[in-house]
Amino acid sequence: MIYTVTLNPALDRTLHVESLVPGQSTRIRSEARYAGGKGIDVSRALREMGSDNVALGLVGGFDGKELEGRLLLSGVACRFTHIANETRTNIIIQDASNGAETALLARGPEVQPAELMDFLDALERSPDMDFLVVSGSLPPGLTPEVYSRMMAIGNERGAKVVLDTAGAALRQSIRARPAVIKPNRSELAELAGRPLPDVKAISEYTRGLLDLVSIVLASLGPDGIVMVTKSEVVHARPPKVPVKSTVGAGDCAVAGFVHGMALGESNLDALRRAVAAGTAATLNAGTGLCRCADIDELLPQVTFEEVGR
Ligand SMILES: Nc1ncnc2c1ncn2[C@@H]1O[C@H](COP(=O)(O)OP(=O)(O)OP(=O)(O)O)[C@@H](O)[C@H]1O
Ligand SMILES: [Mg+2]
Repeated sequence: MIYTVTLNPALDRTLHVESLVPGQSTRIRSEARYAGGKGIDVSRALREMGSDNVALGLVGGFDGKELEGRLLLSGVACRFTHIANETRTNIIIQDASNGAETALLARGPEVQPAELMDFLDALERSPDMDFLVVSGSLPPGLTPEVYSRMMAIGNERGAKVVLDTAGAALRQSIRARPAVIKPNRSELAELAGRPLPDVKAISEYTRGLLDLVSIVLASLGPDGIVMVTKSEVVHARPPKVPVKSTVGAGDCAVAGFVHGMALGESNLDALRRAVAAGTAATLNAGTGLCRCADIDELLPQVTFEEVGR
């Protein structure tokens, strides 16, 4: 089974307005609400690709209940740990007059130590763990050490652990040996502590991480993904596409790679799927994720180039 973890999920509300003027009242034309958060995006994208998976994480209050309900309605199984404080709500305002998108992002509920213990217990007891995908940031009250604990549990359970996070959480938890990490360009530069201007710099730096991590997927937006393993350094590129929104592209890329691995594909084929799924996500406006038909169309258009050592 594939498990995803989102420790700080959100109920996302997208509000469409005619025109937003600060200080003035505005009528809402239409509204959409859905379960958000990076691990949850991975779960939804996996579901779209046909991979059974279970979303884990922390939810609380009425908004947490709504989030669970919406996720189940979209066909994603979930087994969240319930916390006392209310799950956050993000508000995204889409202004029809100028196309601007304004996001109001909440911090998230404070999590108590006992609630974290409950979550880690639930994670330890999750049956048949083949993959553990840990994505996104921490809610208030938790320290990056939580990521190392999750990596350790996944590794003990014999799961392939995939980590997509940034900053201190990424730096610390790499030492707990996830199998796969998927930093984007700026996350990798932050980890390196210096700019990594080109593919050569990226591959040189990431090769130094291979004592701890088996596969580094450095995602480069429109330039695709550089995959670095002990036996290969490959740059996979998507075709040029009419991009509508890049929101969720990284999460879809993670889902694509995990889906490929779950199918038993080679690293190279899973990489192809990661690039196709990430790029498929950019074809949909707003927070829309990838669609299967788009992935299938993009798969044969992904090109590979071996990066010299
Ligand atoms: N402008 C684009 N054109 C084509 N493909 C794109 C574009 N942006 C992203 N992608 C695809 O999505 C993948 C992941 O994108 P990116 O490197 O931006 O991830 P990210 O920064 O982690 O995204 P996220 O904001 O979802 O966390 C890329 O490797 C690529 O395949
Ligand atoms: Mg990302």
